[in-house]
Amino acid sequence: MSEETTEIIAGLRQPQKMISPKYFYDERGSQLFDAITHLPEYYPTETEFGIMRHNIDALADLVGRQASLIEYGSGSSRKTRILLEHLHELAVYVPVDISEEHLISSATAIRSEFPGLEVLPVVADFTKRFALPDPAVPPLRNIVYFPGSTIGNFTHDVAQELLDVMYQEAGENGAMLIGVDLQKDPAIIERAYNDSAGVTAEFNLNMLTHLNREFGFDFDVDAYSHSARYDRDEGRMVIELISARDQVVTIGDETIDVGAGEAVLTEYSHKYTLEGFAAMAEQAGFEVRQVWTDAERYFSIQYCTRL
Ligand code: TRP
Repeated sequence: MSEETTEIIAGLRQPQKMISPKYFYDERGSQLFDAITHLPEYYPTETEFGIMRHNIDALADLVGRQASLIEYGSGSSRKTRILLEHLHELAVYVPVDISEEHLISSATAIRSEFPGLEVLPVVADFTKRFALPDPAVPPLRNIVYFPGSTIGNFTHDVAQELLDVMYQEAGENGAMLIGVDLQKDPAIIERAYNDSAGVTAEFNLNMLTHLNREFGFDFDVDAYSHSARYDRDEGRMVIELISARDQVVTIGDETIDVGAGEAVLTEYSHKYTLEGFAAMAEQAGFEVRQVWTDAERYFSIQYCTRL
C-alpha cells in the first residue's frame, strides 16, 4: 500500500473524518477549480484581481527595482502576470510548488510571455524552509508573494508557522505580499461555496471519484452530498462531504465504516479580520505597511515588511 493511501486511511479513521484538500486536484478537479474562479458567486478571485490592478503602480513603487519575486504556488494566474508586467527591473521570478508538472507548464508559459525574465522554479513544499536558487542578476531584496487567500486553508497554528517560514525566506530587507479574504456577512461567504450552477458541489464530490480511481477506494459517490457552512465562532468556512446512508468503504483488505449523515471534512477556508491578520503577521516578525481592499472590503492584499 502506498504512503499516500496509508495517509488517506489514517484521516478516515479520525473521530472527525478528513481528507487532505490536495486530493481535490486531479485533472478534472483542476478544471473545476478554474471554473469556480469564474463563478458569479465566487468573489475572491475577481476581487483580488481588481485590487491588484487598481494599486499596481503604488505596489511597484513600494517593492522598488531589481527584486526577486518568490511566489507560493505555481503562478499561472492573471495576478502574477500583472506583477511581472509592472514590477521594476525584476531580477528573477521564482514560483514554488509541490507539483512539478504544474510548475513546469506554468514556467514554460511565463518564459514565453516574458522573454527577458529569468524564471527559476523550485519544486518544494512551501510550508517548510526551502533553498532559494541563485539568479544571474543579484536581487536587491526578496518579495514573498502568497495570493488567493490560500493562507486561509490552513488552521491558525499552521498558518502561523507558515508566516514564520515566509519571514525566513524574505530575508533581510525582504517583504511579504499576501492575499487575505476578510470576514463579512456570512451569507455572502456561504454563497461563494454554494454556487447555483453546482460547480462547487461537483468539485467537492470529485475528490471521492479521484480517490476511487487513483487509490482503489470504493466510496459510493452518489450517496454523498456537498456541504459548505460558515462557522462564525471560528471565522471559517467548513467544507464537507456528507453520506446520506451507512456504507462500508473498502480499500485493499481494510474497511472503513461510514454512518448515515456522517461528514468527511475536505477543507477549511478561514476568513480574517484586519486586526487578526496583523497580529499574526507581527507575531512572525512582520509589520503590515499597506493594506489595499475593494470598496466593499471583501478581500485584502497586504504588503508587510520585516520589523
Ligand atoms: N482556496 C479556495 C478557497 O478557500 C479553495 C476553494 C474554493 C474550495 N471553493 C472551494 C475548496 C470549494 C473546497 C470546496 O476559497
